[in-house]
Amino acid sequence: MRITTHTIKEYKKQKRKIIALTAYDYSAAKVLDNAGVDVILVGDSLAQVALGYENTLSVTINEMLHHAKAVVRGVKNSLVVVDLPFLSYQVSKKEAIYNAGKCLQIGAQAVKLEGASEDILKTIKKMVSIGVPVMGHIGFTPQSVNALGGNRVQGKTADHAEELLKQAKDLQSAGCFAIVLEMVPSETANLITENLDIPTIGIGAGLGCDGQILVTDDLLGKYVDFKPSFVRRYAEIGKESERAVKNFIFDVQNGKYPGINETFYMSECETEKLCQTEKK
Ligand code: KIV
Repeated sequence: MRITTHTIKEYKKQKRKIIALTAYDYSAAKVLDNAGVDVILVGDSLAQVALGYENTLSVTINEMLHHAKAVVRGVKNSLVVVDLPFLSYQVSKKEAIYNAGKCLQIGAQAVKLEGASEDILKTIKKMVSIGVPVMGHIGFTPQSVNALGGNRVQGKTADHAEELLKQAKDLQSAGCFAIVLEMVPSETANLITENLDIPTIGIGAGLGCDGQILVTDDLLGKYVDFKPSFVRRYAEIGKESERAVKNFIFDVQNGKYPGINETFYMSECETEKLCQTEKK
């Protein structure tokens, strides 16, 4: 059954944990959908993980849409959320609405954007009013990596935790259906989770959130440039892939690939004709 933003909100009431992961292409999306992931995020982590950029700031709305279309084609049940990348929603409300609308037009069900400033809250209200479901994102917000002075845990003091709680409440009032909490102490995440009606989805935010999200390539050990301390690797796909490719190289170089079953052959009759041709 198709998961909707309503299902996600219902899960919080039922105390059923929400499972969210990222995907950037058709085959990855299909694996996550088949496995039963609730939310598939076409995250702007696409920038580093799939496109090799240094951080999320370089990825454009067109690149996001290109990958989101592939993800949408691979998904039957999960809720597909597209990250609005840097500069696609901050310049003007008009541009933000247009870009969010584009994400829904290609078949996604919601967008995610970072922050909770006055301007962002106004933009979210407008999006929600025209039927665009919005997921918020506070705590460490990667698009502000330069302003935040690097990948730093946020909300480490009681004052900052209260500030983040206010932001979360503002996002809820603006109409967000869920909020990602990134890299905050579990005490801060718990305070926010307990004081909201909408679900929190944590990444490096402890056990108390209503759900958890990770970058799939981190979980699978496929993206190995950097491993945040909160990531648990459930596989070593990167190493396993390298081993497989090395075996392929060995087999080709030693005449062991392709084998009989991996080769097409002519019928005996055609082979016979071919031999005659050779003799002529
Ligand atoms: O882009 C991303 O991958 C994210 C994380 C929260 C998973 O925003």
